[in-house]
Amino acid sequence: MLHNPNTMIADSIIDSTIRDIFGNIAFQAQPEGLYDPLRYMISIGGKRIRPRLCLTTYGIYKNSLGPEILEPAAGLEVFHTFTLIHDDIMDHSPLRRGHDTVWKKWSEDTAILSGDVMCIDAYKRIAQAPASVLPEVLHLFSKTASEVCDGQQMDMEFEDRDMVSMDEYMQMIGLKTGVLLACSSALGAIIGGADPQARKCLYDYGYLLGLAFQVADDYLDAYGDEKVFGKPIGGDIVNGKKSWLTVRAYEKGAEGLLEAFSAHDIAPEEKIAAVKRIYDSVGIVDEARAEIHRLSEKAIAKAAEAGIDAAALSQLADFAHSLLGRSY
Ligand code: IPE
Ligand code: IPE
Ligand code: MG
Ligand code: MG
Ligand code: MG
Repeated sequence: MLHNPNTMIADSIIDSTIRDIFGNIAFQAQPEGLYDPLRYMISIGGKRIRPRLCLTTYGIYKNSLGPEILEPAAGLEVFHTFTLIHDDIMDHSPLRRGHDTVWKKWSEDTAILSGDVMCIDAYKRIAQAPASVLPEVLHLFSKTASEVCDGQQMDMEFEDRDMVSMDEYMQMIGLKTGVLLACSSALGAIIGGADPQARKCLYDYGYLLGLAFQVADDYLDAYGDEKVFGKPIGGDIVNGKKSWLTVRAYEKGAEGLLEAFSAHDIAPEEKIAAVKRIYDSVGIVDEARAEIHRLSEKAIAKAAEAGIDAAALSQLADFAHSLLGRSY
């Protein structure tokens, strides 16, 4: 079933809507100690790609944006931001979006409880989807939320292993990152009234974009610019994370990788430099770029199976390219 080609919503409208949503988002006033971290995390920004993706797929089917989509879209960003608050405790990370993380600025106890209430706030927003699709929306969102936890658990367990396979890595990032982009893309389609085939293809489009996005995040963690990335460079190496770079370098038989990666008796900066030299020795940067490109083209090919018209497909291709294309 082809959608009505007159229903696309322009990127400029989506941009201004995103600015409005997060410029005016309200959380409970008190206790301030509980809710201030939520206001703080939203006010310091972020790329807001999940709500943007949700509004974009919704706009393929509808030509105006009302509360039935704006609240769930906000809920996706609120949920994502909650996962970051807890992720920063787990990854001992002091910097997020260019600012102190919540555990660093307040305390770990605050980060735990403010994170918990932020997850609940996300549910309240998602639950404002129209009654006709609410069971499906809540089912998908709950499934996604528990999968993110599964992925985060795998990510942590991998820290204690010498190495993991590329298949295991892909499964882990699919869960910790892929499913939330998939859910964001699918929610826009579900609430917009897409048919089951389109919902499935747009879910897969988001999932594949999420894989590409996490490989890019792993790449930037080692090779990015802290001022742009907003997070400390080299954190994955210091934490012993099995990033795409590590797993691929191991597959390529990079000499000295495991030794350099497990070294505890050297300064963090030296360890980061040593591991990056090993990555460089097997040409990891070019490989990572190629992988990001491959996954993002695969995502666009999935969207092409959704039965949407050329203009909508081109909007989704632009979304992928603006997310992943430029900086690599
Ligand atoms: C960070 O997500 C966590 C990952 C899944 C890589 P984003 O890169 O979307 O973070 P913000 O929201 O823009 O800060
Ligand atoms: C986090 O992956 C994914 C989730 C928050 C679920 P990372 O740990 O790589 O994210 P960053 O790099 O801290 O943003
Ligand atoms: Mg993490
Ligand atoms: Mg992290
Ligand atoms: Mg990361």
